This record gives sequence, C-alpha cells and structure tokens, in this order.
Amino acid sequence: MEQQNNQPQDLYREDVAGRANVADTPELLRYYSELDKLDAGALWTVANKIEPWQPASASVPMIWRYADLRDKVLKSVELVTPEKAGRRVIYLANPGRRDVTAAVGWLYSGLQVMNAGEVASAHAHSASALRFIMEGTGAYTIVDGHRMSLGANDFVLTPNGTWHEHGVDSSGTTCIWQDGLDIPLVNALEANFYSVHPDLQQKVGYPVDDVTGAWGNPGLVPSTGTWSKGYSPLLKYEWAPTYEALQRFARATDGCEFDGVMMNYINPVTGGPVMHTIGAAMQMLRPGEKTKAHRHTGSIIYQCCKGSGYSIVAGQRLEWKERDIFCVPSWAWHEHCNTSASDDACLFTFNDLPAIRALGLYREEAFGENGGQQPLN
Ligand SMILES: [Fe+2]
Ligand SMILES: [Fe+2]
Repeated sequence: MEQQNNQPQDLYREDVAGRANVADTPELLRYYSELDKLDAGALWTVANKIEPWQPASASVPMIWRYADLRDKVLKSVELVTPEKAGRRVIYLANPGRRDVTAAVGWLYSGLQVMNAGEVASAHAHSASALRFIMEGTGAYTIVDGHRMSLGANDFVLTPNGTWHEHGVDSSGTTCIWQDGLDIPLVNALEANFYSVHPDLQQKVGYPVDDVTGAWGNPGLVPSTGTWSKGYSPLLKYEWAPTYEALQRFARATDGCEFDGVMMNYINPVTGGPVMHTIGAAMQMLRPGEKTKAHRHTGSIIYQCCKGSGYSIVAGQRLEWKERDIFCVPSWAWHEHCNTSASDDACLFTFNDLPAIRALGLYREEAFGENGGQQPLN
C-alpha cells in the first residue's frame, strides 16, 4: 500500500526575498513523498535550515569545574587499569554535542589520570592531540622516540600520525592532565585511523628533552638538519619560559582589547600553528583586566592555569579558577575578566582555528555596542 509522509515539510520557511518560502499543499506533500522514495528531496524544504544566516552552533557555553571533577577522575584509578581502558580518561561532554563526543564544536577534551609507575601503550592516530599538565610530578610523554618530562602547566603535542605513549615515573606522583584532540573533526571528515604499536612500547631514540634543547631557544633554530613535517618539532612547551614570555610581552604592549596579553604557541620552523588542525595559546589577564567582547568562527577550549576570574560567553557568566575548563562555541560572543586586583590570571587555550583558516572560513567581529560588553542573559 502506498504510504505518504504527512509530516509538515515547510517548517523552515522564511518570508524574506531570496530565501525558501514554500507552503505545503497536498500536491507538494505527495511530490515530496515520491522524491523521498527515490532517496532525493526538494532543497527548498531544508535550504533555510542547512544554510543559516550565520553559524548556528549546536554547542552550548560550558564550564567544567575541577573541584567537581577531580575526585571522579581519581576514582577511575580504582575502577580501571590503563591496560584495560587503553587510556584512562574522563571526557568532557557538551550537551549539544554528545552525539560526536565533543566538548565544543569539533574538539574533544578529557582529563586523564595515571599513577606513579603506570605506563599506557604506544599508539598512533589521525587525530591531532595535545596534553596540558594539571597536577603531579614525574609525567612523561614519548613521541616518535623523543621522551619529554612534564610538569604542571607544560603543554605537549602528540601530532597526527606520530607514535606516542604516556606514563609516570615510579618516583613520581599521581598525575592528571587535560587531553585535547580533534577526533570529532577527523571523524566528520571520515579520515580517522588508529594503530596500536606492535611492541606496545616504543624505544627512546634521543636524549631526554632533546626537542626543547634543539627547538626551544628564542629566535634560534639549529643550523643543520631540516624539518618539513606539518607540525612543530618543538613538541613540548614548558610553563616557566612561557610565563616569562608573557610577563616580558606585558611590559612591551598594552595588550589586545579582546584577549589581554596573549601569545600563540608556534611551530618555530614556520611561525605557524603547532599542528595542522589545532592551534594553542596562552593568555594573561593583568590584575583587574576586563576585555571587550568579540566573536569569531572556530571553537575554543580554555583552561585556567593561574588565578581566577570570569568570562561571559553568549551572555552567560562563567566563574573560573585554577584548573577549571570552559568553552566558547563558534560565533559566540566572549569576553574575559581577571577579578584579582593584585595577581595576574592565565588561560591556556586550544582551538580549531588552523583548520578553519585553512578552509578559508575565519571571520571575526567586535561586539561594539555597550562599550564592548555583553548584557548578561
Ligand atoms: Fe593518543
Ligand atoms: Fe576570541
């Protein structure tokens, strides 16, 4: 028996010249059903939905407070081993993006915990990944044979395609770090591969921390050898020189009206972003500093790594302090404030801006009205 879809098909009509505005009729509904049976459809029934006037992010502004999550993260140590879990991680779920396991937009994030003496197996994947160390001592990462020792607020890359593994020295303490990856993006592009290292562990092929020795010197790169991969050879960015650089920059600039004193982590060979698809930065808000609101395409994940304050994201005030993580969805207005009158506040951020820019999709605008500050919802 012939079945006809009686659902309304004119839900997205707009009474605007140039936009789809076709009301359902019995004849049209019959026609849409015939098209549906041929696995086809009339564009005007969905055009206004799939081509919004401006980005319509499904992500919502979120803050994940460390005080709420830390105990739960530590609990996972009792419940699963790294061997069984592969990676013992509690991921951050944006209510609008649970279907793709994203913290915001096309970015994934999670909190990983390892006890002293634990080692996770070496693996490689098409997703680009980073870690930002939150607490503990003795953590290390090995990337393609380069072993890096890691402390709080150090930032380390495990780029697309590299063999990498994580562990904590037996002399260390329980370590927690934030993982950031573009898994949702790579899955959306249907380009994700994952491999477990055939020996489960890889050999260290270089002196420990050779990457910072070779590539971590301001304004200097090795005079011999070449680097042509699409990610930074400086796989580790240590906190102490990063913070010192921000302080030095703060003495040399009035800062950016939207971000305060902000510096990008870069590939020292190209001056470009650290990885193909993910960029990262550290921003410092000086005591009492309050920035103006702007918005741009691309999604941002922030971790407060020093101080306290708040950000207003899409009219929502998010109070943060050290180790809290929050997100700014694409095209959402955002502004930041350091509420301390005496101490600076630092926000580590990572984003999908290299992917957005490579695709020619970056756009930015200032809030403008109301002295650049958003009204609260
Ligand atoms: Fe990984
Ligand atoms: Fe921004």
